[in-house]
Amino acid sequence: MEEAVRAGILGCGNVGAALVRLLDDNADLITRRVGVRLEVARVGVHNLAKERDVDLAPGVLTNDAEAIVDDPDVDVVVEVIGGVEPARSLILAALKSGKPVVTANKELLANFGAELFEAAEAAGVDLLFEASVAGGIPLMRPLRESLAGERIRRVMGIVNGTTNYILTQMAEEGSSFGDALAEAQRLGYAERDPTADIEGYDAAAKAAIIASIAFGARVVAGDVYREGITQITTDDISAAHELGYVVKLLAVAEEHDGRIGVRVHPAMVPLDHPLAAVRGSYNAVFIEGDAVGQLMLLGRGAGGGPTASAVLGDLIDAAKNLRSGSRGATLGTLHRTPIRPIDETASQFYVSLDAADRPGVLATIASVFGTHDVSIQSMQQKGKGDEARLIFVTHLAREAAMAATIHEVRDLDVVERIGSVLRVVGGEE
Ligand SMILES: NC(=O)c1ccc[n+]([C@@H]2O[C@H](COP(=O)([O-])OP(=O)(O)OC[C@H]3O[C@@H](n4cnc5c(N)ncnc54)[C@H](OP(=O)(O)O)[C@@H]3O)[C@@H](O)[C@H]2O)c1
Repeated sequence: MEEAVRAGILGCGNVGAALVRLLDDNADLITRRVGVRLEVARVGVHNLAKERDVDLAPGVLTNDAEAIVDDPDVDVVVEVIGGVEPARSLILAALKSGKPVVTANKELLANFGAELFEAAEAAGVDLLFEASVAGGIPLMRPLRESLAGERIRRVMGIVNGTTNYILTQMAEEGSSFGDALAEAQRLGYAERDPTADIEGYDAAAKAAIIASIAFGARVVAGDVYREGITQITTDDISAAHELGYVVKLLAVAEEHDGRIGVRVHPAMVPLDHPLAAVRGSYNAVFIEGDAVGQLMLLGRGAGGGPTASAVLGDLIDAAKNLRSGSRGATLGTLHRTPIRPIDETASQFYVSLDAADRPGVLATIASVFGTHDVSIQSMQQKGKGDEARLIFVTHLAREAAMAATIHEVRDLDVVERIGSVLRVVGGEE
């Protein structure tokens, strides 16, 4: 029988343990299907004393991650520790010693991707990272390989399951943001400290990776314009529904006149758009390309099993390439492409505000929109007297013009409070 390819797995938490179990359960299936036998040579953890639901031979588990990278018995390194260090140094060391690496680490790739891709290129080995964005959904490989010849215009995704679960609960159960977040925490969808999810940092890291791969550009997490979902109210969600929209947290990467725009923010998605149907903790990515048209990939964006499935696909790829002495599709050099500032982006906007309910108020507010060249598509009044709320939907307007409008409207005596300002999907440039 052909010699096995031996994996050194760094990390045995949610993803690492699920990967070990999957390799155990599917070993024969993998060998039959792809002709390569995979073995778990070493598994690295932080705390050797911790109870683990994995079946490993004595001596496989170690708390010396560097020794795994250096071990001549390890052919491929899988990094599922997370965070920047020691993951970054371990991956660089593995690549430098000629070992292919598989990682699920979005934080690392979103900040140090270019350095790692260059190290892989220099060493002539694979660096695969399918699981780093949208967990179990094949996205990196379709973008890198299937769509390698496509002129991609825009990638728009729901890439954070926690926020999608919260927004779905608010829309379908009428829950408040706080109650929906508490429920997500109870179900294990949200961390005890949910900041990375609800403030959009997690989605921004994924947006940076998506933009890098879709456009072959150096985009880091700091380039991503970011807003979270903490300001969204059930009133916004029901107003959106009445207007024919659902509110989603979107990660958007697009190319415009040779520049890359990349942003994360809540948006109103038309009910007949495929992304509107993505409910609960599911993720989906909607891709628009010149020849391929519109394409959507949907599935489980997190969780040990789905993420381990994506890691395993990469591991098999790396093992096959190692056996055949080849490499998978490489990224080559990521170009330094200018980032398009958010101010220059144009969208339709939804604006809700509380205003005095008396004659002339509407005209006063509308004239401020007009001063900044923001034209109003529709206006609704909800409630009366002290409860009066005005909802505007604009035509296409530049972010800078909209920001200036909001700034001035907020200062009007007749305006008590600006509620939400949301971008509307469908009317972009
Ligand atoms: N969980 C998901 O749904 C998901 C989805 C997509 C991507 N990812 C990515 O997958 C990666 C792993 O996530 P996870 O949820 O599996 O994390 P996790 O449950 O926190 O597991 C991390 C593992 O790394 C080990 N570790 C920590 N420091 C170490 C060190 N210095 N040397 C060796 N091992 C060390 C830990 O050891 P101990 O067990 O001893 O503490 C633990 O086994 C992250 O990059 C994450 O972003 C996760």
